[in-house]
Amino acid sequence: MSAEPLEIHLEQQDLDRGLREDVRVGLAATPKWLPPKWFYDARGSELFEEITRLPEYYPTRAERAVLAAHADDVAAMTGAKTLIELGSGSSEKTRLLLDAFTRHGDLGTFVPLDVSVSALRSSTEQIAAAYPGLRVRGIVGDFTRHLDRLPTGGRRLVAFLGGTIGNLLPAERAEFLTAMRAALETGDWLLVGTDLVKDPGVIVPAYDDAAGVTAEFNRNVLRVINRELGADFDVDAFRHVAVWDPRREWIEMRLRAEHPTGVRVLDTDVVFAAGEELRTEVSAKFRPEGVAAELTASGFDRRAFWTDPDGLFGVSLARAD
Ligand code: SAH
Ligand code: AVI
Repeated sequence: MSAEPLEIHLEQQDLDRGLREDVRVGLAATPKWLPPKWFYDARGSELFEEITRLPEYYPTRAERAVLAAHADDVAAMTGAKTLIELGSGSSEKTRLLLDAFTRHGDLGTFVPLDVSVSALRSSTEQIAAAYPGLRVRGIVGDFTRHLDRLPTGGRRLVAFLGGTIGNLLPAERAEFLTAMRAALETGDWLLVGTDLVKDPGVIVPAYDDAAGVTAEFNRNVLRVINRELGADFDVDAFRHVAVWDPRREWIEMRLRAEHPTGVRVLDTDVVFAAGEELRTEVSAKFRPEGVAAELTASGFDRRAFWTDPDGLFGVSLARAD
């Protein structure tokens, strides 16, 4: 079966409006910040895929090891008919789940949802070609806004992989989980990947690799704003910075102005002092018991928690209660 045409819940004009609003608010704030979803234009999505292959970036390999070991358990425990994937990107690791469902269950439909049209277009085509019996319905959407529009009917499993839940701030995360539970029926399932707290000596290089790919990924957000909003960021004036926050147990990516610089954007002049930083991403690291508590607080019951052999990354399977 070929992939169905993408279902568009986010038109270009919605994206433009959202970006304008986030840039207006984030660049006027002290300290300045931007939400991470704007990294992922076609180039940003490619850079992310490159990151996943870096020697320093362990989360993708670790999560893949968990799924390779436990995808059959997920298929057997959930008996899902529909697999929905949020922030699906390339859906590369998701194939392990699709393979397990092919062996065990009778999954009929795969619904990847992402803000990145380019990532979704290529992933849906590739998955549809590789799994001929599967209905593949890609949705261009925002998982912080469009959970009420997920397909209904049949036992559903929602997968949220990669540790992307950690890119939400704690209050956003609680809001997300509550909205997720409201969108599901009792007996549906959530599979969520979380990067775990560990030695910052392992975490920091994963976000500041020797080849500079993460630095390019980080700076890409400025290129997106230049192109989409006609801004004039001097991209080379900003240095990539990755900082571990031991109190909040998250790593932040920032862009630091190397010298005084300014940008004209949305009819406003925004000034950066030398050394001033723009926060572009938070990536929270979790403790196993903390994930269970957050799931319980939003109406889920965690039925399984698996890690890779090195205990780097955790995957929770929770039932909507
Ligand atoms: N799940 C994949 C990709 C993770 S990268 C993996 O585990 O490797 C994060 C993905 O989430 C990107 O494809 C990005 O486009 C998407 N994304 C980020 N914010 C989003 C949002 N608010 N709504 C929908 N997709 C989002
Ligand atoms: C998508 N997300 C889980 C990645 C992360 O690790 O927080 C994004 C990323 N940022 C820098 N490298 C990768």
